[in-house]
Amino acid sequence: MARISAGIATSHVPAIGAAVDLGKTQEPYWQQMFAGYDFSKRWIADNMPDVVFLIYNDHASAFGMESIPTFAIGCGESFDIADEGWGPRPIPKVMGAPDLAWHIRQSVIQDDFDLTTINEMDVDHGLTVPLSLLFGQPEAWPCRIIPFAVNVIVYPPPSGQRCYDLGKAIRTAIESYDQDLDVQIWGTGGMSHQLQGERAGLINSEFDLKFMDDIIERPGELAKMPHKEYLRDAGSEAIELVMWLIMRGALNERISEVHRHYHVPASSTAVGHMILDNS
Ligand code: DHB
Ligand code: FE
Repeated sequence: MARISAGIATSHVPAIGAAVDLGKTQEPYWQQMFAGYDFSKRWIADNMPDVVFLIYNDHASAFGMESIPTFAIGCGESFDIADEGWGPRPIPKVMGAPDLAWHIRQSVIQDDFDLTTINEMDVDHGLTVPLSLLFGQPEAWPCRIIPFAVNVIVYPPPSGQRCYDLGKAIRTAIESYDQDLDVQIWGTGGMSHQLQGERAGLINSEFDLKFMDDIIERPGELAKMPHKEYLRDAGSEAIELVMWLIMRGALNERISEVHRHYHVPASSTAVGHMILDNS
């Protein structure tokens, strides 16, 4: 049977992707931010999954006002890299895991969560920056990836509670797949940030560090936090953190923290990163 070996959380700031692609990771602005991923790159080389179930949000690259799925699962064979205005990033395309993705889709929909099925879409920085942070710059990504897109762009986003419960349904789905696969769940986006308006640049480290503690120890309580608290306390784009709750919902009640990194700022964002062992 397939099993979930670990959960990984990480922010996804687009400037991080540009720093990797342009060879700037050792420049003074970036050095500390990237240093927090050195351990993670070694860890994942020793703990390489067969498949990453990667929860992210699209930023008007694949979806726009013409279609806004709340939850969309990528069931295709492969996914091209989106052009976000400067041409697609020079990175390998993303190879999917269609058979497992279709199984998850079937199980989760029958568990009362409506998923949109996507066979063709381009993936943007929400998905590709986490890949670069964990895998560096390989010729091909070292495992299969199932993209799972969550709408946190057009109001209303799904609640933290719904995301946490969805994670549990995803776990049931993965654990009922009859192939012996090692699957990691990645929850991406966040932490505190606001990109526009009077409060642009807002960061709340106290909120972020408590969120990291709570997601380990008190995820059920954390899931109850309403949207407006993310917005008020941690900025409008902090709502991306509900995607960490999907990841957490798919893990055991008790997990152990393997690694934590927190760095302010990267562009306008507080970068948070955790590796959570689910064995
Ligand atoms: C930034 C952060 C994001 O989450 C995003 O999607 C775009 C930009 C930033 O900090 O620049
Ligand atoms: Fe974002």
